[in-house]
Amino acid sequence: MTDQELYEAAAAASQAAYAPYSKFLVGAAALMRDGRVVTGVNVENASYPVGICAERCAIARAVVEGAKPGDFEAIGITASPCGACRQWLHEFRFDRVAFMHEGELLVRRPDELLPDSFEL
Ligand code: THU
Repeated sequence: MTDQELYEAAAAASQAAYAPYSKFLVGAAALMRDGRVVTGVNVENASYPVGICAERCAIARAVVEGAKPGDFEAIGITASPCGACRQWLHEFRFDRVAFMHEGELLVRRPDELLPDSFEL
């Protein structure tokens, strides 16, 4: 699956986002090393800070299915990942992060998105 196709899967998934407050629908599609694609959407809440971003939703779904750091090849996202999501992308050791930014599909490594990142 190409990064463009992964982005298109994220865009299709975004239609299911629950974003009644911002009305900003975000989709993410994680490509697993075994070929599976796991999607996520942003899920907002009336208590604004407890909402979850699309990327973390997709990663958490994959973890429920047994995924571990290193099992993730790439992720397509319809928006530039926020700082918290960049930390998650680093934690789960994605090879590539493909995201739409100012009308262009950018492809970056997690360490480019979060240099000198925190680890335990
Ligand atoms: N959002 C994401 O889903 N992913 C990001 O990395 C950036 C922000 C969501 C959170 C919120 O529901 C909406 O976009 C507006 O900030």
